[in-house]
Formats: sequence, structure tokens, C-alpha cells
Amino acid sequence: MCGIVGAVAERNVVQILLEGLKRLEYRGYDSSGVALINGNVLNVIRRTGKVKELSDAIDHQSDSGIALGTTGIAHTRWATHGGVTEANAHPHVSEQRFAVVHNGIIENHKALRDSLSASGYHFASDTDTETIAHTVAQLRKSSASLLEAVLKAVPTFHGAYGTVIIDKEDASTMVVARSGSPLVIGLGIGENFIASDQMALLPVTRRFIFLEEGDVAEITRTSIVIIDATGTQVERPIVESNVEHDAGDKAGYRHYMLKEIYEQPAVIRNTLQGRVSPEGIADDVFGEGSDAIFAKTQHIKIIACGTSYHAGMTAKYWLEAYAGVSCDVEIASEFRYRKSVVKPNSLLVTISQSGETADTLAALKLAKECGYMSSLAICNVDGSSLVRESSLSFMTKAGAEIGVASTKAFTTQLAGFLMLVLAIGKHHNMPAQLEQHILQALVELPNKLDETLTLANEIDELAEEFSDKEHSLFLGRGDQYPIAMEGALKLKEISYIHAEAYASGELKHGPLALIDADMPVIVVAPNNELLEKLKSNVEEVRARGGIMYVFADKDAHFESDETMRVVNVPHCMESIAPIVYTLPLQLLSYYVALIKGTDVDQPRNLAKSVTVE
Ligand code: AGP
Repeated sequence: MCGIVGAVAERNVVQILLEGLKRLEYRGYDSSGVALINGNVLNVIRRTGKVKELSDAIDHQSDSGIALGTTGIAHTRWATHGGVTEANAHPHVSEQRFAVVHNGIIENHKALRDSLSASGYHFASDTDTETIAHTVAQLRKSSASLLEAVLKAVPTFHGAYGTVIIDKEDASTMVVARSGSPLVIGLGIGENFIASDQMALLPVTRRFIFLEEGDVAEITRTSIVIIDATGTQVERPIVESNVEHDAGDKAGYRHYMLKEIYEQPAVIRNTLQGRVSPEGIADDVFGEGSDAIFAKTQHIKIIACGTSYHAGMTAKYWLEAYAGVSCDVEIASEFRYRKSVVKPNSLLVTISQSGETADTLAALKLAKECGYMSSLAICNVDGSSLVRESSLSFMTKAGAEIGVASTKAFTTQLAGFLMLVLAIGKHHNMPAQLEQHILQALVELPNKLDETLTLANEIDELAEEFSDKEHSLFLGRGDQYPIAMEGALKLKEISYIHAEAYASGELKHGPLALIDADMPVIVVAPNNELLEKLKSNVEEVRARGGIMYVFADKDAHFESDETMRVVNVPHCMESIAPIVYTLPLQLLSYYVALIKGTDVDQPRNLAKSVTVE
């Protein structure tokens, strides 16, 4: 989604800004732009399309001085208000003097636009962002500094935003404001930076200050002044980042997504390392004091979005069946806008790859007011808002995930949840034999995933049969139902084939009406206690002329024939089967997307990190 980079330095910052934008590309965007102050001149260059278009445009004008500036801001835009046009790309300018970049949404933009227009401000775009530029310009007239003007402007904005403003009359300063959309200050030597994501700044610094909700900050080359939501000047801690960033490196793979699929055995090994052994789960793996919280936990509420929500749904099956703790799972965007009842001694668990998903953050904020005993974040980005705002945290060690379609983040979340089952089960009379079974399964897991990846060629070949398909149905039962949902999400996300998932027991309650030879049915069929039930569902599809692709355990005894293509998945222990069966579905969606010729790593209309609701 939208990305922000800004810099105030003694050197020309244009390459720092462009590199920052490139590092944010994975988040998804449709246009980009940069504003630079060169002496007393404010130059703005914007382009639709990829950052490459912008950097080419800058290269073409490098002799003109347009691409020079010691203070500058830059942005990748993911359209919300106003179409994908150069005029709507950020930065937006007021009075040829102030330039603004913005993530999030100013919800009262219409009222602001009307009032600013009445005051004589002309709008050059359809965006909500331009209201920030004109509001600040207007308030600057009655303020002693840009900081003062922004402090006055902030209460007039309703909605979520992270914004950065520069003024060509004072090139030494950037003023930034955070409300609901993350901003991080990067500290250099004699130069300072701002970004919406630390990834953007890793080439120039590893020292960061994460702004808190409601903070406004004035940043110069040598000073940082932060004013909190109460108007008080505050100090925020400096954090040394140990985030790794491999965005530039596909390691020889054609796409990040494929690389990330193949990384799964290794990153799951990392996620397990030092936390789980054949002897048991280490103490307080979910954060200091987590075992004491788990001992009191009587109910678990899981909240997340998208793929992370599917991880939560799988965890519900596990937590109730293995740890004997009741659990319910909810989509964050639903939870945040409804009145809910909190059961006694409930633990709130949020899950997120990025830790910056707006709905999940809002749900956490609401839950904290509702009386949950404690909050645990299962997250892939250390230092993210979700981690910082939760009482307990567990870091999945998937490494940077660049493909918009989540793969390794999902399977490491599932591994994390199996560890949560062990950590909670320990306090809820989990039978020793069951604990041993899960421990052993976890220890075996990375090798099982390596084995499963050897199916790639077979799945690649099978993907050909999807080249002319427009719809598909995914079926699973029990803890494989969320895996079917995740398989369907992957396929629709990157191949644009309509895909729906059903718990296969639901077939005869409606979806059977859809079955015909043009609607491939993908079935996940491990050899578990629900196998015979699943086989009945398969027969229901066969009897109606459906064509099936069955990912099955060899011992499940499915045979390929003219209506059914069977891919034998390596045999694995039941508790890890949802993780193992995820991989063939990821590979299937990847190879189908290749045939369809879509942009696998940055599918249309989607963003990696959904920082607006
Ligand atoms: C999955 O492939 C998607 N990109 C999407 O559903 C994602 O899982 C969702 O937006 C939640 O993101 P998060 O895990 O970063 O919170």
C-alpha cells in the first residue's frame, strides 16, 4: 500500500528517496512521486506506473537541477480517492511552497475541500491528501513555524494518516504527523530520515524512532522534536534494528513468491530453533510472563485478516482439539465495528505478517478497552506497531516476505500456533502422549516440507489444465478446511481465477449446483479420521460430472482416472498435515498464474501491507 520516504541532509537526497521507494514497491502501488527543495525552488516529479518510470524521468532531467535537493519527500501511491493519474500521485503542493505526502485516508476531506475552496484554494487533484497541503498552507499564515501550523492542522483531520510536509521557505525542516498509519524516523549522522516502513531506510541507517499514535515531529539534520497527542514534548526510545532485507535478491528464482515457497523448510527450522525440542517447549516462548498468563487462560480470541485469518482458523481446530481450550476466530474488520462479549480470562491473539494491518491494529486497540486478560501478537516484523502495542509477542522467523501473496509467513504462523498449543496445553492437562506426538511432528516438519516441494514438476504440469478455467472450488474438512480457504485465496489473488472454498460437508447445501466439467474441484485429502466422509463428498462431485484434483496421502487410496487427477503428498503426522498440504496449493496457484501471465509478485489491485481500512 502507499509508502513514504523523506530525508533532510547536506547531500543530494534524490537517490536515497528513490532507493527507499524501490524498497517499498513490494507493498503494492500504482504511481509514485518525489518533491525536492533545491535552494528556493520546489520541484515535483510524478509518474503513474512503476518507480522505474519515475527514476527514468528523473534521469532524463538530471541536467536541469530538478533532481537536486538536500531536503525531499517521496511516495508510492495506492489509489483510494481519485483514479490512477499523475495529477493524483503524491506529493501534493499548495501555494507552490508546501509539499505533502500522505498514507491513509482523511475521512472529512469533502468538508475540508469545500471550506478550503471557499477560501480560494484551487484543487489540482481528486485526492483527500491535497486537503492536508492547503490546510497547512492556510494555517502557516497565522503560525510561527511549520511545526506550529501542523499542530493546529492535525485536529481538523478525521481518519487515519501518516503524513510528511516540507516548506520550500525552510528547507532545513520536515514536519511529520502520525495518526493510525505508521511512521518511523531514521537517525543518520548529520542527516535524518522519515519513512512509513523501516525497510525503506535500511541502506542509510539502522537506528530508528517509532512514532506513537498522535505524535507530531519536527525533523532537521541535527534535531528531532516530538510532540505527543497531549501537546507535550516527549522523548521516544531509539531502537537498533536487526531486520534483514533481501528484497533485491531473488536468489535465482523467477519470482519472490517462488523463492519464498522454497524457503519454507528453512524458515520453519528458524522459527522452531531454540524454542522447541524433542523434550518440550521452552519456557515463556511467547514473551516474558506468558506461561503465567497461559495458566490462567480459559478462552482464546483470535483476530486477523486474509491469510493470517486462515492461520487463526486452523489454530482454532488445534487449540480446542489438542489443548482443550475454547477458541473463536474473527476477521478484524468485523470485530472492530461490532459489540462483542468478552469471556472470563480471555486471551486475545492477533496475527499479522506485517504487524501494520490497519484493521488488525484497530481491533487490538478496541480489544484492549474491552477487558481481555492479555494480548499476544504473532507477527513477522519485529518492532511493528502490532508487536509494540501488544503485551506479549511471538516473532515468526519467516524473514522479509516480498511477494504480495503470503506463503512462508502463513506456514511459520501455523508452526507458531502449534507451539502455542504446546505452551497452553502444558497448563491444561494435555496428555503427555499427545504432547510427544506434536513435538515429534514439529521436529519432522522441515524435512516433510522439503519432500513435499519435490512435487513441483507434477503440479506445474497439472496447472496446464487450468489455463482456460474461470472458476474453481476448493474442498477440505476439519483443520484442512482453512487450508482449502487459503488455497482458494492464493489462486484468486495471483491467477485472477474465481475460487471458492467450502467445508466439503457443505457441498450438498448449495455449491453442488455449480459442478460441471468447467469448474475444477480441488480437494485436500490427508489420511485422517474424516477421510471416509471426504470420500463420500468426492463421489457426490463425480456423480455430477465434476473434474477433481485431489492432493492426497498415498494411504488414502485415491486413484487417478478420467475425472480425477491424484497427486500423492508425502505421508505426515496428522497435527502438521495442514502445513504440509498448504505447499502443493501454493505451487498450484503459482504455476497457474505463470500460465495466465499475471504479475505474480505484485498482483493487480493488491497491496502487501494494508495500512488503510
Ligand atoms: C495474503 O496472500 C494476502 N496478501 C493478505 O490476505 C494478507 O494476509 C492480509 O492482508 C493480512 O496481512 P497481515 O498478515 O500483514 O496482517
